[in-house]
Amino acid sequence: MYSEKVMDHFQNPRNVGEIENASGVGTVGNAKCGDIMRMYLDIDDNGIIQDCKFKTFGCGAAVATSSMATELVKGKTIQQALEVTNKAVMEALDGLPPVKVHCSLLAEEAIHAALWDYAEKNHIKIEGLSKPKNDISEGEEEDEY
Ligand code: FES
Repeated sequence: MYSEKVMDHFQNPRNVGEIENASGVGTVGNAKCGDIMRMYLDIDDNGIIQDCKFKTFGCGAAVATSSMATELVKGKTIQQALEVTNKAVMEALDGLPPVKVHCSLLAEEAIHAALWDYAEKNHIKIEGLSKPKNDISEGEEEDEY
């Protein structure tokens, strides 16, 4: 049912963890399955994503897609990171079963939410980025989950 790449990223997820004083943090969730994904971005003065880490409390596909998404955005510009859509993540993983497509959407939304946070912190506007729908980070400053 899952490709080898999905299994690999599920069993050996890359870039798990947090970034202290991250340039942007985005937390998104899917109300139906209850899974939650948080992305941390470290963006330098030239707008290059130097580092990206994630924490995912969710299904195996959510772990695999967030792992792949971090790999795809690392070293990229903000504009290039916006092109890392759920489709791009799925393609990089050699596909996902249809019932798991929403998991990859969470990865895309988490990147967007982290970029949105970065833009807000720096009072800038990122062309082509709109406010993430599923950002659930508000009022969660002291959360631990
Ligand atoms: Fe919800 Fe995978 S089942 S993110």
